[in-house]
Amino acid sequence: MARRCGRATSLLSGQIHFCSRSATKSAVWMCLCLLFRSAAEAGLYTATDQIISLTPDTVPSVLVNSTAVILVEFYASWCGHCISFSKTYKTLARDIKEWKPAVDLAAMDCAADVNRFTCGMFGIRGYPSIKLFRAYSKPESTGQILRGFPRDLQGLRHLIIDKLEKHEEPWPPACPPLEPASQAEIDSFFETNNVQHLALIFENVNSYVGREVTLDLLQFDNIAVRRVLNTEEGLITKLGVTEFPSCYLYYPGGNYTRLRVNIEARTFYSYALQRLPGVVRSGKPPPVKTELLQNNTEEPWKPFNRSRVYMADLESTLHYSLRSELAAYPSIRGAALNALKKYISVLKKYFPGRPMVMNLLWSADSWLQKQTGDAVSYEAFREILDNSEQLPDTALPEGLTWVGCQGSQPHFRRYPCGVWTLFHVLTVQAMNSSDPQEVLSAMRDYIGIFFGCRPCAEHFKTMAEESMAEVITTKMAVLWLWTIHNRVNNRLAGALSEDPNFPKIEWPSPELCSACHTVKENGDHKWNQEEVLPFFVSYYSKNTILTDYLEDESLILEKQREKHASEARKRVGRQAGEATGSMTNPLSTQPTAQEHEEEEDNEEEEEGPQDEAVVDEEARYVDGAEEMVSKTSESPWSKSDLGSRRQVHRKLSIVGIRMREQQEDIVDLDSFVNRHYKAKALRLAASSRVKQRTLQRKEEQEPAPVFGLGMELDGGLGMVGLQPLETHFNIDVGQPGKRLQKRELTGEYFGAEVEMSHRRRWMTALSIGFSKVDISLCVILYFLSFMCLLAMYLFFKNRLRLRRAKTALP
Ligand SMILES: Cc1cc2nc3c(=O)[nH]c(=O)nc-3n(C[C@H](O)[C@H](O)[C@H](O)COP(=O)(O)OP(=O)(O)OC[C@H]3O[C@@H](n4cnc5c(N)ncnc54)[C@H](O)[C@@H]3O)c2cc1C
Ligand SMILES: *[C@@H]1O[C@H](CO)[C@@H](O)[C@H](O)[C@H]1NC(C)=O
Ligand SMILES: *[C@@H]1O[C@H](CO)[C@@H](O)[C@H](O)[C@H]1NC(C)=O
Ligand SMILES: *[C@@H]1O[C@H](CO)[C@@H](O)[C@H](O)[C@H]1NC(C)=O
Ligand SMILES: *[C@@H]1O[C@H](CO)[C@@H](O)[C@H](O)[C@H]1NC(C)=O
Ligand SMILES: *[C@@H]1O[C@H](CO)[C@@H](O)[C@H](O)[C@H]1NC(C)=O
Repeated sequence: MARRCGRATSLLSGQIHFCSRSATKSAVWMCLCLLFRSAAEAGLYTATDQIISLTPDTVPSVLVNSTAVILVEFYASWCGHCISFSKTYKTLARDIKEWKPAVDLAAMDCAADVNRFTCGMFGIRGYPSIKLFRAYSKPESTGQILRGFPRDLQGLRHLIIDKLEKHEEPWPPACPPLEPASQAEIDSFFETNNVQHLALIFENVNSYVGREVTLDLLQFDNIAVRRVLNTEEGLITKLGVTEFPSCYLYYPGGNYTRLRVNIEARTFYSYALQRLPGVVRSGKPPPVKTELLQNNTEEPWKPFNRSRVYMADLESTLHYSLRSELAAYPSIRGAALNALKKYISVLKKYFPGRPMVMNLLWSADSWLQKQTGDAVSYEAFREILDNSEQLPDTALPEGLTWVGCQGSQPHFRRYPCGVWTLFHVLTVQAMNSSDPQEVLSAMRDYIGIFFGCRPCAEHFKTMAEESMAEVITTKMAVLWLWTIHNRVNNRLAGALSEDPNFPKIEWPSPELCSACHTVKENGDHKWNQEEVLPFFVSYYSKNTILTDYLEDESLILEKQREKHASEARKRVGRQAGEATGSMTNPLSTQPTAQEHEEEEDNEEEEEGPQDEAVVDEEARYVDGAEEMVSKTSESPWSKSDLGSRRQVHRKLSIVGIRMREQQEDIVDLDSFVNRHYKAKALRLAASSRVKQRTLQRKEEQEPAPVFGLGMELDGGLGMVGLQPLETHFNIDVGQPGKRLQKRELTGEYFGAEVEMSHRRRWMTALSIGFSKVDISLCVILYFLSFMCLLAMYLFFKNRLRLRRAKTALP
């Protein structure tokens, strides 16, 4: 139930937070959600099916005076036959989507109250019924009923062709001639037609292949297709045709070649013809040559192998998804937070990334898993993404380098292409996992909530709701995503978003995997799933992903370090500015130290009673941050604003977010570090100059990983009192050095550092700053000695009494 609810709310994307806000409210919302859901999804067809859903309002505009023939299925959503037929009807819509200008499909749900009257007007008695409305129908036309229509795809297709051929004048203008061509016609063809290619399909009189291919190509320019019957002796002997069906390309000079295809069948002809040189979809610019692309695109065109997957695309996708798309949510809460957790967790488990990237995903995942509250702020998450902790060998490269997802124009391909690629890779990587839905549901939730293209997200969710539940093995998960992607490709072929250089096809093409394609007995195309799966697995497997155009790891890490250094410097600068502005005391470091201590004291006071209220508190602070952001910047997503937003957040984070669960956090983090960095960290720790200098005592006790080390260091110096700014600049900095500056001078914690403050304070107190412990120790000692005395008193009193009793006894 809860899941349904979640899905339903995200349909109304403005209301993401409704469902999972609190346990008490959820029941109410669930009902509302279910209501919305049923309203939003009435009927058997959705927007993704390429079938026009008719209502009384749309009947005139769709059916009257249309230039295409329209088939209308009248159904009742409760009728079992309609439900089973709806599958065929949807398949038909996908199968003949290229015929749309000549034949289009519509449907009307007569079970819906609003439609009942209209269905009656059309004389509908039983369901399902199909009526044909010819081109340029009159308003009073009630269509031609197709009695006993076939219930299979091929039968329906043939029926449509028969109806088209018998169509009386006026003929639907987009429909090409379907009758067989004679030799005389072919001979004079190029005198009257200005096309580059003429494709001739030789076939028997009762074959439909020629007509189907003709219609399949009706939206393409520079090509004409005609069927030639096997009785056309002259042409057959001229071209030496022996096979029926077969396809020949015929040229103005009278020369011809046979079209090479794997199987002599409709889909193979259509696919090959649509890709002939010079053949373009009507209204689309021709594809640009690669050499021209180099000059056309703003970035230099990167040559790449079209049949390979590139890590550069995957990393770019992660960068965009995590640093841009998510940034639109200053506060991530409820369902969105769960979606993010799932997404990162799946990435952590299955992303086949470089060690550096994997380390970052591990760290992001472990951080997120610990956020048990209702919300996290994006800025806190961003700190993790940018590795503000400066964990060794951990980074998510910044910037976009599209390779396999390059587009011939800046608005083509790129990120959405990367998203598809990413999730295909993940489903393949997850094939050994035990939960077949893991990756898919993570994808559904991420796309559903965060994917910037909202209509895409809605379509995707609809498709997921329809059939994702049927996925029960990881192999099926791989194939499900493949099918869904192909369905999207089918729908988008020829759309504005299609890059002419990368036409949308049902993938993989015969060139890429010829064994994947086969035909049914009736000649219809069929995917050979036994072949598709292995092909898919090798295409998207970890080992075949190319690493071209990737920036060097050491360079990335170096950049990251520099970035942190400069940020730290900026912060220092600001802090110094504030300090000098607000201070009259010439001993500039002293007050800072005091401030710092005061702040720590405050924390301690706040800590106890806060535990229960923490979730709400946090939410409020995050909300506050959100508000402030929207006040300070008109467009909260523009890059230049990020900085200011981050600052706002940092200020708030000290107060709001820091005092939760620190104990556990540290334990987890340490074990995480132990698991993943132990060897490295130990090496680093051993060579760390800072450690040698300041923590020799500790070193003897335990070889702490560098993580803990940094903590201790920070804590220690935070209490010891501060050295002047300049010395810190002069220390030639290892990473811990930078962290020092950061904390001492600002007195702020942020990002993951927040997690550590608790233990750090105790360490601080125990290692160097005895001032506070003095007091507490005294109290404890007093208390203990008092207890001791009390115990002794009771003990002796008892013994005395016992002895007295003993002596009293006889
Ligand atoms: C979840 C989702 C939903 C979307 N919905 C819409 C929408 O409703 N409307 C819209 O206009 N755009 C939508 N898009 C964008 C659209 O699908 C394309 O991603 C975009 O137009 C870029 O197309 P492309 O040519 O790069 O190929 P893409 O479709 O992005 O494919 C990327 C690469 O994946 C490979 N590939 C192609 N098909 C398959 C397959 N079936 N299985 C495995 N690999 C394949 C190919 O190598 C291809 O180059 C959606 C994107 C996503 C991620
Ligand atoms: C039908 O459409 C044609 C052009 O498409 C137009 O000339 C004609 O007036 C229309 N007729 C009606 C009744 O709308
Ligand atoms: C047709 O044949 C001529 C010579 O035989 C050749 O030059 C021309 O390129 C051919 N045209 C096509 C489209 O194959
Ligand atoms: C691309 O532009 C450069 C100069 O900017 C020019 O020399 C080169 O010929 C161009 N290449 C193509 C294929 O147009
Ligand atoms: C592209 O990759 C495929 C598959 O690995 C390979 O067979 C082909 O030779 C490559 N093409 C180029 C141009 O490198
Ligand atoms: C799944 O397990 C098999 C056998 O253990 C192994 O050969 C294969 O590489 C694994 N696949 C992935 C994607 O890890």
